[in-house]
Amino acid sequence: MKIKPFSTELFFALYEFTAAHMLSSSDCETMSVGELLQKSGRSASDLGQLQLGYTESQGNPAYRKLVCQLYQDVTPEDVVILTSPVEGIYLTMQTLLNPADHVIALGPAYDALHNVAEHLCGQLDLWQLQPTSTSWQLDFDSLNLMISPRTRLIIVNFPHNPTGFQPTPEEFHLLLQIAEENDCWVFCDEIYRGLETGLQEQLSIPSAADCFEKAIVLNGLSKTYGLPGLRAGWLVVRDSALRNQLIGWKHYTTICPSAPTEFLAMQALQVHKQLAIDSSQLVAANLREFDAFVQQYPGHIRWRAPQAGSTALAEIRLDAFNGALPEPVDTVSDYCHLLAKQHGILLLPGVCLGGPANSVRIGLGRRGFSTALQAWRATGHFLSH
Ligand SMILES: Cc1ncc(COP(=O)(O)O)c(C=O)c1O
Repeated sequence: MKIKPFSTELFFALYEFTAAHMLSSSDCETMSVGELLQKSGRSASDLGQLQLGYTESQGNPAYRKLVCQLYQDVTPEDVVILTSPVEGIYLTMQTLLNPADHVIALGPAYDALHNVAEHLCGQLDLWQLQPTSTSWQLDFDSLNLMISPRTRLIIVNFPHNPTGFQPTPEEFHLLLQIAEENDCWVFCDEIYRGLETGLQEQLSIPSAADCFEKAIVLNGLSKTYGLPGLRAGWLVVRDSALRNQLIGWKHYTTICPSAPTEFLAMQALQVHKQLAIDSSQLVAANLREFDAFVQQYPGHIRWRAPQAGSTALAEIRLDAFNGALPEPVDTVSDYCHLLAKQHGILLLPGVCLGGPANSVRIGLGRRGFSTALQAWRATGHFLSH
C-alpha cells in the first residue's frame, strides 16, 4: 500500500527556494550559526571542537534536561530526541498503531499528521475545526459521536497549523478528559507553542505532557525558535513501555541525533525565551499588517485572524481576482501557481492541508512580509473593474 503524497512538501518543492516573496512559510525568521552561537555566548571554536562520533539514541542527557525547562513536570527520561520534528510523527504512529485501530485527527492539518496514521490503519476520522464568523471552534458533539472502543489515538495540534486556532484551557482539559474516559492516547503536536500572539487576548494552555499520562507530545526548534535547518525535535513520552518501543523503531530510522544539531540545539535552548519573544514580536507585527491589508480589500480576501502560532487561513474570492487577470483561473490552487510562477509570491493552497478549496495559508513569521504584500498589490490583481 502506498502512502498519500505529501501535498504541502510537493507544492513547496516547486517554488520555495526560488520565489522572492514568502507569504506562506510556517517557520519563523531564522539566523546564522554565528548568530546563534553569539546569542548563547559560545564561539565557533567551541563548535569546532565537537567530536563527530555516534550519539546516544535517546539523545544527550544534557539536551534532554534542557528540554525539560519547557514543561512543569517532565523528566529527562521522558524525552526522546529526534533527528527532525517530523520523524516524531512517523515513530509515534508506527509504535502505537495496528491495522484495525481507529484514529481521530483534527482537521485541517499538516499532512504527516493524517497521512501516516491513515496509511497504517486505513481508517481515520477527521475531527474538523468549524469556522465561526471571526474564528474557529472545536465541535465536541462530533468528537463524542466519532469516538468508540476501537479508537486508540486522537491526533491534535495546538497552536494549530494552518488556522492559528488555540483552544481555551477549559476546552483543552475537556478534550483530555474525553480521551481519558475512552482510554485513548493523545498525540499533541505543540511545535508552535510559545507563539500565543493573537490580536485580542493572550491564549496559552499547558502542555499536554504536564496534564495527561497518555499524551505523546511533539515539539522542536523549527517554528517558534526559527531553526528549521537544524532539524531539531523531540517527543515527550511519559509511558516507559511505549517510549522503549518507540526508541526501538528509531533504530530503523535514524539511530541517533546528529552531533552538531545536538550541540546547536542545546545553545538554542539556553536562550529559548528570547528566541520565542523575537518570533512572537515579528508574528504580532505581521498579523496587524495583514489585518489592515484584508480590511483594504474586503471584496478580494477575508480571514479569521489567528489566536496563536505563525499561520492562518485566508479566503480568496476568486471571482474578484479573475476580473483583473488576463486569463481567468479555475481554482485557488491555480491562482497560487500563477502567483508563484509569474510574480515569485508564494501562497500555499489551503487544500494541501485539507482546508477549504477557496483558502490559502498565510505565514506570519518572516521578515520581508510588508515587501511581499507590496509585491502582491503591485501585481494589479486587486484592481477592480
Ligand atoms: C504541525 C507541524 N508539525 C510538525 C512539523 C514538522 O516540522 P519539521 O519540518 O521541522 O520536521 C510541521 C512543519 O511544518 C508542522 O507544521
